[in-house]
Amino acid sequence: MTRQPSEPYRIKSVEPITLLAPEERAERIKRAHYNLFKLDAASIYLDLLTDSGTSAMSNRQWAALMLGDESYAGAESFRRFEETVKELFAKRFVIPCHQGRVAENLMFSILLEPGQFVPNNTHFDTTRGNVLHKGGVPVDLPCAAAHSDEAHPFKGDMDVDALSKLIADQGRDMVPMVIMTITNNSAGGQPVSMRNLKDVAAICREHGIPLYYDCARFAENAYFIKRDEAGYGDWEIAAIVAEMFSLCDGAMMSAKKDGLANMGGFITLNDESLYRRLTELEILIEGFPTYGGLAGRDLDILAVGLREVLSYDYLDFRIAQVDYFANVLRTAGMPLVEPPGGHAVFVDAGRLLPDIPAEQFPGQALAIAFYVEGGIRAVEIGTLMFGTTDPDTGATIPARQELVRMALPRRVYTNSQIDYIGEVAERIVQTKDSLRGFDIVYQSQFLRHFTADLLPVEEQKLSVR
Ligand code: F0G
Repeated sequence: MTRQPSEPYRIKSVEPITLLAPEERAERIKRAHYNLFKLDAASIYLDLLTDSGTSAMSNRQWAALMLGDESYAGAESFRRFEETVKELFAKRFVIPCHQGRVAENLMFSILLEPGQFVPNNTHFDTTRGNVLHKGGVPVDLPCAAAHSDEAHPFKGDMDVDALSKLIADQGRDMVPMVIMTITNNSAGGQPVSMRNLKDVAAICREHGIPLYYDCARFAENAYFIKRDEAGYGDWEIAAIVAEMFSLCDGAMMSAKKDGLANMGGFITLNDESLYRRLTELEILIEGFPTYGGLAGRDLDILAVGLREVLSYDYLDFRIAQVDYFANVLRTAGMPLVEPPGGHAVFVDAGRLLPDIPAEQFPGQALAIAFYVEGGIRAVEIGTLMFGTTDPDTGATIPARQELVRMALPRRVYTNSQIDYIGEVAERIVQTKDSLRGFDIVYQSQFLRHFTADLLPVEEQKLSVR
């Protein structure tokens, strides 16, 4: 039995949710062309699509919202937000923006020349997209353990030898920055060790290359360091965060995760001339630098959320709940990527459904089954999301793995709801041989998974005939 601390909060406000009848669910997913992004949220019972912007706010955050100062320039809300970010991360400048991808866009617009390389332990999709958009070359350098079955507590680490080699091969001038994604979302939400951050920082210092974090889940990462890395067991979470950030030149954050807020992001850094250039561009595309695309009340919510997330009791419950969820799915017979990450459990649909070929999207088949069987929404992370087409043969080039990500929103669902997901998972495992793959009947040129229309394989054949 996995250890499960009980919730360090009680519920003051509830949001009713409804489980539709099975026939109604089957009808709605058909009308949504078997694309879970096209379902109305009201059709869903438990929504595990993402942990981003889906947190429940605390009473203190709701109270802070009423203090929002909506002045265009110099708002008090900004001062409170700025003070919090400086206290936590100890950088000189703070630039708010409305979400993480804007922070990326601003940074790469200023720092990147076409053809330059950006090493990252693993780029998140928007980070990769923004590097490419500026003509840069995103390079993923995950450690060897990242994609192995080996049990390793810090599978989010960067391969430091590969980083040194990239800098040696391309030359320092072709590498304008190094990014560490904390935790490593695209590598299964796995944490990065302090040892690895120190090693990467040393290489960056040696070559005079700035090191930036993509730190959407920095507090969850700090918890893993405290729990699993030798020497940190009796450190406060805030002290671990301070140590982590003492190693970098700055950070970009999607505050929709560990900011415990529904919207928000920022850049924080020391370099004054870079700060000036970033804010010039920000005024053009996002807003004045004391609000950056956010309402004053959003900044106040973040000022509170960024402190609350450092609570050991909160993090201990949070990470244990993800573990509990993993255990429930494992017991139901679902093969998982091990160990589970900090914010999500990744089910290995390729292993569960070996008879469905990659070009028929086994991950999508499983994600649809979770909805039809139980009103649960998750997201395919496999060939539908990352597969490409060979331009010569037209054949599908599959993704590395066929996964379904089940992300847990923060402070939102209870363990009895997680037990319910376990029951649904068990029913799916028992009837897995009846699951069918899908064909795409419409797709866009970029990021097709958001808008594609699909049909179950047999229906597709019937409709063609
Ligand atoms: N970096 C990481 C590591 C992320 O996980 C995300 C978003 C972003 C940057 C972009 O931030 O959405 O605020 O613009 N991740 C979400 C997810 C969407 O579902 O994992 P954003």
